[in-house]
Amino acid sequence: MVKICCIGAGYVGGPTMAVIALKCPSIEVAVVDISISRITAWNSDQLPIYEPGLEEVVKQCRGRNLFFSTSVEKHISEADIIFVSVNTPTKTQGLGAGKAADLTYWESAARMIADVSKSNKIVVEKSTVPVKTAEAIEKILSHNSKGISYQILSNPEFLAEGTAIQDLLNPDRVLIGGRETPDGQKAIKALKDVYAHWVPEDRIIATNLWSAELSKLAANAFLAQRISSVNAMSALCEATGADVSEVSHAIGKDSRIGPKFLNASVGFGGSCFQKDILNLIYICECNGLPEVANYWKQVIKVNDYQKNRFVNRVVSSMFNTVSGKKIAILGFAFKKDTGDTRETPAIDVCKGLLGDKASLSIYDPQVTGDQIQREISMNKFDWDHPVHLQPMSPTSVKQVNVVWDPYEATRDAHGICILTEWDEFKTLDYQRIFNNMQKPAFVFDGRNIVNIEKLREIGFIVYSIGKPLDPWLKDMPAIA
Ligand code: NAD
Ligand code: UDX
Repeated sequence: MVKICCIGAGYVGGPTMAVIALKCPSIEVAVVDISISRITAWNSDQLPIYEPGLEEVVKQCRGRNLFFSTSVEKHISEADIIFVSVNTPTKTQGLGAGKAADLTYWESAARMIADVSKSNKIVVEKSTVPVKTAEAIEKILSHNSKGISYQILSNPEFLAEGTAIQDLLNPDRVLIGGRETPDGQKAIKALKDVYAHWVPEDRIIATNLWSAELSKLAANAFLAQRISSVNAMSALCEATGADVSEVSHAIGKDSRIGPKFLNASVGFGGSCFQKDILNLIYICECNGLPEVANYWKQVIKVNDYQKNRFVNRVVSSMFNTVSGKKIAILGFAFKKDTGDTRETPAIDVCKGLLGDKASLSIYDPQVTGDQIQREISMNKFDWDHPVHLQPMSPTSVKQVNVVWDPYEATRDAHGICILTEWDEFKTLDYQRIFNNMQKPAFVFDGRNIVNIEKLREIGFIVYSIGKPLDPWLKDMPAIA
């Protein structure tokens, strides 16, 4: 029986290994982590992450050929194939701080593999890493090899949160990079055989190591660039009376552009886009390519601009101050169908409003008050370091109140900001909400999900990203 061990039981390691276990009953899969609380949760009825369809898959395989464990050394030493799916956050200190990937967790995993291995291993980079990381990993392993042979493969993960199980069951492609030596090709074949249990052969792409590593950064940069492009257009739409949804629809009909990933929003969030583009920028700079670095920097600058623009719009619409006003925040997760709040645009929007002394009442169906308080009090880039290593913020932010009901969040509020596109926000009783709010009552839709006409009929002043402006907003002072 082939044995797989995955180091890192997070958003990638957990779902990916669960699907491998589901599709490959002949393979034994152990997912290990240094976080005892995470492993305990994976072994309980309350999984550590919310992901549609995940619970069913885990329940089918757990205890059969899928195991979650803190016995890191034991499972590494028994495995034939070791996936490394640890976090690779942005460095917060030292050389490259604020841009470069922090490979501390990766390096400690590699050293652990070198320490405990007694047989040949295939080591698979599942984490997103800078191009050429495999070379560094090879050095760590070969210098400590005790005669053991290691083959390093790059097999980046392309799942998106909220649709992880669907993405894993039916991937657009699986990418495997390896050495162009006979042993490297043999390792690629071994990993291909795992995916071939359910992925059609023509969707499994084999490349060299560096292409695979770089393709992951490139894919995220291209995806994020589309969002910044459409968000840049949204500002121009507001200035000219064009409607960004109509523009997206029109350009998306061009088969060379395509319709997906053209939704204007308050800004992209999530644990990957910003971190991976910063990483790409750093790599370009290190390779003497400042023009290329500056091109990608602009994607992040536009994203920051979009979040600031949203905050400025809220404040300027409400007579240039939100001091002491209650603002309801609907949605805190970085997108719908996940409880993940890493780098969510809601953090910057909330911080911006708090900076203007607003009082916030926040509702998200999947995010707890503790998590929201932690995100709002945390320093930039600290978020991607393992959850268990982060001290809870000793004091919670007083002007932030987190509730479990959207009607409570909006009661007596002066304005509502919709920051996550949860389906339930489309069908709220907005008449009831309006009746219980201060007047004039504002809705600022950062996800373009509400029916603008209907809300205006009720009496709301509505702002939607990239849509023709409400007459009220046109009369308000120009925003920065
Ligand atoms: P995560 O923080 O949810 O999970 C990482 C886990 O690794 C944590 O539970 C941590 O405790 C554990 N860990 C760290 N060092 C360890 C060690 N030495 N031994 C054992 N366990 C250790 O992160 P994630 O979101 O799953 O992301 C993992 C990697 O995958 C990152 O490189 C990320 O960029 C990449 N990625 C993420 C996504 C996504 O949607 N989240 C998608 C594609 C790729
Ligand atoms: C992303 C990539 O899509 C995935 O392939 C990679 O493996 C990890 O990073 P993820 O961050 O989970 O996945 O979600 P994604 O759907 O890409 O959304 C990222 C952010 O962009 C979210 O905040 C989302 O709301 C925003 N977004 C997405 C938009 O603002 N507009 C869009 O049209 C699409």
